Amino acid sequence: MKPGLKVGLIGGGAMGSTHAEAYRVIENAELVAIADLIPERAQAIASKTGATIRSANEIIGDPSIDVIDVCVPTFLHRDFVVKAAEAGKHVFCEKPMARSLKEAEEMKAACDKAGVKLAIGHVVRFFPEYISAYHKVKNDQIGDVAVVRTTRGGFALPTAWNDWYANYEWSGGLVLDMIIHDFDYLRWLLGPVERVFAKSTLGRDYNRLEYALVTLKFKSGAIAHVEGSWVNSGGFHTRFEMAGTKGLIDYDSRQTSPIKLTVNRRDGTPGVPVPTGAWEESPYTTELRNFINVLDGKEGIVVDGNEGYESLRIALAALESIETGKAVLL
Ligand SMILES: NC(=O)c1ccc[n+]([C@@H]2O[C@H](COP(=O)([O-])OP(=O)(O)OC[C@H]3O[C@@H](n4cnc5c(N)ncnc54)[C@H](O)[C@@H]3O)[C@@H](O)[C@H]2O)c1
Repeated sequence: MKPGLKVGLIGGGAMGSTHAEAYRVIENAELVAIADLIPERAQAIASKTGATIRSANEIIGDPSIDVIDVCVPTFLHRDFVVKAAEAGKHVFCEKPMARSLKEAEEMKAACDKAGVKLAIGHVVRFFPEYISAYHKVKNDQIGDVAVVRTTRGGFALPTAWNDWYANYEWSGGLVLDMIIHDFDYLRWLLGPVERVFAKSTLGRDYNRLEYALVTLKFKSGAIAHVEGSWVNSGGFHTRFEMAGTKGLIDYDSRQTSPIKLTVNRRDGTPGVPVPTGAWEESPYTTELRNFINVLDGKEGIVVDGNEGYESLRIALAALESIETGKAVLL
């Protein structure tokens, strides 16, 4: 048994198995229990990590467990986070924080009342390329940022438990599920957002191939175009371009791959595409290590419930703009 905090994982799908891998290399934490409704998924994680297979309620009720890691679909985040907080557990919850602001408020209130820490999985803040650009901007290497363009997407929405990504009421579609990563990163970089205007193919017959373009106007005066796509034939990739008064920063995740093959990437691989790169450590591991170190008193929290809530507000404003055709003031 490893020394450190004991973690119980709820949800062992694409993200849960990524988190389970992370705990194997985080020195001061141990994954001790896994719950998933699909026995083979729980079994696969248990075999690799030594975690015991139990129900979510058993894990939350176990007094020897310190941290609950919530990796179930978005519409279930609220219930598990509130239950975990009421049982006195610290909680790491995947992004987006919740499906609605009301649910997110209840999650924050439950954690505050119980005096437990809550972190939200906005992992882009842990990607080396995004951190590097953040520091270049903060060190004034490109001057005042005027315009930012970001792109994130793959081909066709992910396959998952009960096809939950395809259910708008459960997932919030491309904007809430995926490009919230960019909203969160941009808010971290550029400060509060003032106005949101968005267009999307949401609701059309070819919904599984959703495309969205969201314009954010920041209080600083900067403008961002955030593009999300489940129509990228070339598979999952991300890009950004930041233009400032003194220069430009440009990044394209595809440029790090020396050999390029472009095919429609619904090649039978199940689950959501999890980005890979030539990193020393997966950003998902760095993110969870940060939370464990927060609980150990060694580091400050990066994305807490308030931060997760603010990024959720932007994504929900974008959905409102898509539905009404009007700009939404925050
Ligand atoms: N940070 C990221 O980059 C990133 C990437 C992908 C997904 N996510 C987020 O992670 C969350 C999970 O997404 P996913 O792609 O792993 O979904 P998934 O469908 O692959 O996995 C979800 C798992 O939860 C299990 N589950 C459902 N209800 C349960 C319950 N009551 N008790 C126990 N297990 C239950 C399902 O059986 C399934 O295995 C979502 O909120 C998603 O938005 C984040």
